[in-house]
Amino acid sequence: MRRFRYGLDPLCLLSCAAYAVERWVIRPRFTGLFWHGYSTDFLLIPAALPLLLWAYRRLGLRAHDRWPAWSEIGLTWAVWSVAAEGLAPFLFRSATGDWRDVLAYAVGAVIAGCWWTLAPRPGFDLLAPHYTWMEALLAGSRLQRCRTAWLDELTGCRRLLVAGLGHGPVLPELLACNRHAHVTCVDASAGMLAVARRRAERAGLDPGRITFVHAALPAWRPSAGEFDGVVTNFFLDCFSPDELRTVVATLAGAATKDARWVVADFTIPPGGLARWRARFVHALMYAFFRVATGLRARRLTAPDALLAAEGFALAGRRTSEWGLLHADLWRRETAVTS
Ligand SMILES: C[S@@+](CC[C@H](N)C(=O)[O-])C[C@H]1O[C@@H](n2cnc3c(N)ncnc32)[C@H](O)[C@@H]1O
Repeated sequence: MRRFRYGLDPLCLLSCAAYAVERWVIRPRFTGLFWHGYSTDFLLIPAALPLLLWAYRRLGLRAHDRWPAWSEIGLTWAVWSVAAEGLAPFLFRSATGDWRDVLAYAVGAVIAGCWWTLAPRPGFDLLAPHYTWMEALLAGSRLQRCRTAWLDELTGCRRLLVAGLGHGPVLPELLACNRHAHVTCVDASAGMLAVARRRAERAGLDPGRITFVHAALPAWRPSAGEFDGVVTNFFLDCFSPDELRTVVATLAGAATKDARWVVADFTIPPGGLARWRARFVHALMYAFFRVATGLRARRLTAPDALLAAEGFALAGRRTSEWGLLHADLWRRETAVTS
């Protein structure tokens, strides 16, 4: 997760700028109570807390550079409210206590807290506990049908790699289809892996046949030619074109010369109403995942050319849901010449 940048945090910078504009541009020109009484109170926590935390850090009172926690936000709001609105009127003649100021500090604190919770966007961890019911509600069994469409083609494999395992819906069927293979599952989200582990336990899967790896591709480097089967379900759509190129190259490097690669993913139909429908669904999905997980990809990049460049040939494609989903079987038949 990215570290908090204190005074360079965009919300802090924006709030300081808004304070300056409000104080020296707006206030001299407008007489309303809002501008003279409350407008800057909203900015207190977003502007001042990062600077306060920076000072704590320098003084050794804060041991890390994590994003402001709700406890730090709440404590600062409470201490400031009591000091400025409760004690100050007794100590200074010019000070007055006003509960509406306390409310304004709270509104600013909640907005800042929501931003500081979402801004570091810890990948899929936030979504992990909700992923299964969200999928059931929004897609029923459609995605699972896609994930399992080609599993019987992997029955001869001995070492399988599932990249971007997620909440692990493919594991029970994958291990049932193939009674001998060892399955290595990699995912960047510890939360997703925890859900997948629980699912595997509940399904009574042999833990000796599964290795869970908490790592992010393409930084994670499996050994060359280690896997004779690769599974990527709704995973390759997480990457921008440049990222996808390195991710596919990394996975292909880990695959044997005769490996099979099963891909389940979203796709864009070639034309007509189905294309518009898919574009609309994709726009909603990418917007959601960008906000909820910090996904950098803005749109789907088809991996076909990249797979072909790595020596894989499309051996079968099943599309469903008006061309919105596809399940592919790719086979590597020739050695790559580069
Ligand atoms: C959209 S979910 C799909 C999960 C699952 N495969 C499925 O069929 O539903 C994408 C998964 O890929 C993981 N992921 C995203 N980027 C990753 C990366 N660079 N390396 C490893 N896993 C990643 C996420 O944590 C998430 O669990």
